[in-house]
Amino acid sequence: MKKIKIADGIHMLSMNVEDMLFEGIWEIANGVTLNSYIVKGDKTAIIDGVIGWDGVPETLYKILGEIDVDPKEIDYLIVNHMEPDHSGWIESFKKINDDFTIVCTDKAAKLVTSFYGDEENIRVVKEGDTLNLGKGKKLSFHPVPNVHWPDTMYTYESDTKTLFSCDMYGAFGKMDEHHFDDEMTDEEIEFFEDEGIRYFSNVMGTFAPMVKKAIKKSKELDIDIIAPGHGPIYRQNPQKIMSDYSRFCKYSSGSGKKEITILWGSMYGMTKKAVDFAETVLEREGLKVNSLEMPLESESEMVATVFKSAGVIIAAPTYEYKMFPPVAAAIEELGRKKITNKVAFRFGSYGWSGGAERELKEIIERNRMKWDFVEMVEFEGAPKSEDFNKIEEGILKLLENMKDKTI
Ligand code: FEO
Repeated sequence: MKKIKIADGIHMLSMNVEDMLFEGIWEIANGVTLNSYIVKGDKTAIIDGVIGWDGVPETLYKILGEIDVDPKEIDYLIVNHMEPDHSGWIESFKKINDDFTIVCTDKAAKLVTSFYGDEENIRVVKEGDTLNLGKGKKLSFHPVPNVHWPDTMYTYESDTKTLFSCDMYGAFGKMDEHHFDDEMTDEEIEFFEDEGIRYFSNVMGTFAPMVKKAIKKSKELDIDIIAPGHGPIYRQNPQKIMSDYSRFCKYSSGSGKKEITILWGSMYGMTKKAVDFAETVLEREGLKVNSLEMPLESESEMVATVFKSAGVIIAAPTYEYKMFPPVAAAIEELGRKKITNKVAFRFGSYGWSGGAERELKEIIERNRMKWDFVEMVEFEGAPKSEDFNKIEEGILKLLENMKDKTI
């Protein structure tokens, strides 16, 4: 865990986490940071805590000592969001400090009780409520429900114009030496943008309409610094992450980068022959291609890669009268994440009967995904030259349809 000074009286405490499945689901190839913030006036507040893993709260207490904060004298726990990656330490904290107030929304208050037992010292806040810590440090609270839990709020510090945004404006990815946007190299900026896409698509994508409202609310505040619960702090250009998040919302509803993702699976290599052919066509046409073979790809990578692409090719054979199960499961997951209005094309092999196409249409319909498919191509056994011709035609039509979707 590291301590990083943001301004007089404000510090970030940040720890890198690896080897975990985020939310118990998402394999995060490049780790994630958990950021907590201390604001010190006459009174002291901690905004978002840390995960409750063995030894983690104790490490936090030690670091607090290094910035002259005695954890026993923390007055306020500002719970922007109750998910245990931020609140898991509350039980430990209650053992060393019996005189503090939790500040949170009404929805978070119910969750505090259900997760950590009856809690008497809760102050429920609403839009615009304030808390004066003294020495010029004044906090205000701004609920942003359903990004992704219903309890979430922003905390804003008016002296430094800092927005403590919790999950909003967060990203996966560990931070090494650099924690502020103005310290980052071009490679690091690109890294955190990619990790922001992965984080958004995995964790928040289902709630894109609510994220849009949260972006609007942040634009109504006078912000110099955005300090999220995961990932870098933005102090040189906080507008960038707001603009990135607006673009990610558009990826949720069908737009994307000028890239094609081929989401594919093959039992004995027949569909793979067509995938290899499709890749040569796309290469000839100068498109960036992301090839995701299921079930070998992680769910996190699959969701993030389809999410950011303006065009999608589904390549999967029929298996037991339905679609090859790992690809069918992937599309179901994209439906749960409400990734809608993508332009797409599908081809695949069958042995003695089809069925994949019918199941694909059912999945798209059931999840109200509204994907726009060009005419699908099914071939018996191995693809023949006439099948390759149809696949090439389908790809060229897909590229045409992608033009309006590329941002
Ligand atoms: Fe970072 Fe929704 O927890």
